[in-house]
Amino acid sequence: MSDTRANRRFRSQEWFDNPNNPGMTALYLERYQNQEYTRGELQSERPIIGIANSGSDLAPCNKIHMFLMDRIKAGIRDAGGIPMEFPTHPIQETGKRPTAALDRNLAYLSLVEVLHGYPIDGVVLTTGCDKTTPAMLMAAATVDLPAIALNGGPMLDGWWKGKRAGSGTVIWESRRLLAEGRIDYDEFVGRICASAPSLGHCNTMGTASTMNAMAEALGMSLTGNSAIPAPFRERMAMAYETGRRIVGMVIEDLKPSDILTRSAFENAIVVNTAIGGSTNAPPHLAAIARHAGVDLNVKDWETLGYDVPLLVNMQPAGEYLGESFFRAGGVPAVMAELRKAGRIHEGVMTATGQTMAVNLAGLESLDHAVITTCDKPLRTHAGFKVLSGNLFDSALMKTSVISEDFRRRFLSHPGQEGIHEARAIVFEGPEDYHERINDPTLEIDEHCILFIRNVGCVGYPGSAEVVNMQPPDALLKAGIDHLPTVGDGRQSGTSESPSILNASPEAVVGGGLAYLQTGDRVRLDLDASRMDALVDDEEWNARRAAWTRPELHHQTPWQEIYRKHVGQLAQGGCLELATAYQKIARDLPRD
Ligand code: FES
Ligand code: MG
Repeated sequence: MSDTRANRRFRSQEWFDNPNNPGMTALYLERYQNQEYTRGELQSERPIIGIANSGSDLAPCNKIHMFLMDRIKAGIRDAGGIPMEFPTHPIQETGKRPTAALDRNLAYLSLVEVLHGYPIDGVVLTTGCDKTTPAMLMAAATVDLPAIALNGGPMLDGWWKGKRAGSGTVIWESRRLLAEGRIDYDEFVGRICASAPSLGHCNTMGTASTMNAMAEALGMSLTGNSAIPAPFRERMAMAYETGRRIVGMVIEDLKPSDILTRSAFENAIVVNTAIGGSTNAPPHLAAIARHAGVDLNVKDWETLGYDVPLLVNMQPAGEYLGESFFRAGGVPAVMAELRKAGRIHEGVMTATGQTMAVNLAGLESLDHAVITTCDKPLRTHAGFKVLSGNLFDSALMKTSVISEDFRRRFLSHPGQEGIHEARAIVFEGPEDYHERINDPTLEIDEHCILFIRNVGCVGYPGSAEVVNMQPPDALLKAGIDHLPTVGDGRQSGTSESPSILNASPEAVVGGGLAYLQTGDRVRLDLDASRMDALVDDEEWNARRAAWTRPELHHQTPWQEIYRKHVGQLAQGGCLELATAYQKIARDLPRD
């Protein structure tokens, strides 16, 4: 057992060992003793380690954590800590209506309240499905107690008729095949269910794998944590080691504020490009940064991330899935290759108690078909473009998923590479899109751009993953798989569509998208990172003056609270008032 005594009182001792308030101390002791803890343990100057358990029957992507709890607790005990498990608000991407995005800030709020108000000295954050990871890192940043992320890990690889079937990514392909009449409904369902063969989160480089890679790149987990598939023995070992390590972090008083520096976020941005990561990473990282008090701008994603090469050959940007990524070395191998090219701030402190340089020493890609090297990249300049113009102040485009066909069709104006001018088709939300996409009077052809609005944080509410709209059936049958799409919502991290999304400010708060009309000409200039409606100023201003904010229908109290306080995606979609609360563990709650 390591030395668990620190030269200071633990926070939990204010509850369990406070002679200045014997009445309350006795009350805390009696109720925690009636389960598995003895007075001796609770008053023994051993740190109490919370385990924020995000797994449940309602949250299948994170359910593996229910089976990892014993290993986490064993690690905590063996290192001299006392584990206390508690549940978190479930966030299941594929279960929660109207969107799981609405729940990220709710889970954040509730975890902040738990970490602040209970006798906890450090916490294991059990991450996995898309928003569970940022929700927990945001809370850890606000409270600033020692915290370490433990991913549940991706599912095993999915297979369908001898081909890899990746979570989410198989849906977008199957949806087209169904619309083209090439498969029937039963095969459609069969293909999609085949992509989920075991416990775990999405096995593609969707938002779950991305956000766990981000946690690791930020230094908030043990080295190699993110890529281990959920059912592997290495996952159980990682749970044990993470439990052991959090005790050491408490003894060392190693807090999120020591790890989540500007340099750590710059590392995360670079890693995101190299892994072909999700377009949901920018808002989630913006939110974590704001709660950590770190200045990060959406434009940083282009400035720091655009010219980074794509190194990971994983769906949706490539072909492989999670098992291959793990065997090739996972995130540490990617970071080691980036480090050789001088693209990583290697002096940053991490949860291991060592710098990133120490964590990555001696590591490299173990399979160059899956993780390649910087001198033989899958693509160069593979990061996000951050566009602006009269339609929005910022919107993202993931360039690593732009196919040659798409580039030729939509990004090459005669003589002007990267420029596209087209007619706008505007939808007011997903229902309107489904109702009208095949309406022949819209005359949608390959010279159109599809827009969707009122699907951002305030509008939807929560910001929906609906921007990757499919072209009309007639175009699909003619072999046009994608049209350029633009919107103030998001898209799934598993999508292989080069949409222009996360447009901020969104239409319902008066962003430029609100004034666009079907039939307007729109110009996309990728090299200049601009997109503009070609409508003259007088007309544009008249539309703006005539615009009234749409009536919003709240279905739950939280939807109303959320809409009242949420900011825009470019700034992380945070509860704005919450960003003023920083390092609140220092401010002990009243007894
Ligand atoms: Fe939960 Fe993809 S739906 S990880
Ligand atoms: Mg998603």
